Amino acid sequence: MIVTIDGPAGSGKSTAARGLAARLGFDYLDTGAMFRAVALALLNRGIDPANHVAVEAVLDELLLDMPPGRVVLDGRDVTAAIRAAAVAQTASKVAVVPVVRRFLAAEQRRIAEGRDIVCEGRDQGTAVFPDAACKFFVTADPRARAARRFRELLDKGESVTLEEVLASQHERDTRDTEREDAPLRAAADAVVIDTTDLSADDVVARLEEIVRRCATARL
Ligand code: C5P
Repeated sequence: MIVTIDGPAGSGKSTAARGLAARLGFDYLDTGAMFRAVALALLNRGIDPANHVAVEAVLDELLLDMPPGRVVLDGRDVTAAIRAAAVAQTASKVAVVPVVRRFLAAEQRRIAEGRDIVCEGRDQGTAVFPDAACKFFVTADPRARAARRFRELLDKGESVTLEEVLASQHERDTRDTEREDAPLRAAADAVVIDTTDLSADDVVARLEEIVRRCATARL
């Protein structure tokens, strides 16, 4: 059974997806981490994401592995490295490139095949798994989202201001919602959850209740 969770940056969807997967005993796939890994591969090679021919050549030689809770790129564990703010910005530029979206969507379908899994990202319910059993769109007020990201980055020792986080988030949101290929939006059959005033535990509890109802309805 596939559960999809889509939503903008900082909406709390990763925490919710991880918590939900743990409660259900499902696997968890962070598809944003896959876009970040491709972005890191380009940054490491000094390739501009706008150079689609060069990007495609990198995809041909890239070795991306997603063991539970980790991201391994070309044999190196990059789980922490892909969390840098610069990688996030490049990831959202890489995400507009159709060949990257096709490549990663195929990987995501291959990973999810035959498994009980929570797949989290921007296009999981709309483009990658349109027939998923249960779909969510998790969102929150932009300032609340930026404040969450800001705290995470401070905890990691990055030196940023809240205004910088807000500006970068706005830039990423705009690119994600306005791109032609699989833009960020709620699937018509997704349950929309606004997390602005909800605790992480409340969000997981709400999602779990809905998934259990979905699963029962399918029996
Ligand atoms: O979720 P996260 O912030 O780690 O994702 C990084 C970037 O990857 C996003 O800004 C978005 O542009 C892109 N992405 C995407 N489709 C997905 C997951 C992430 O376009 N399914």
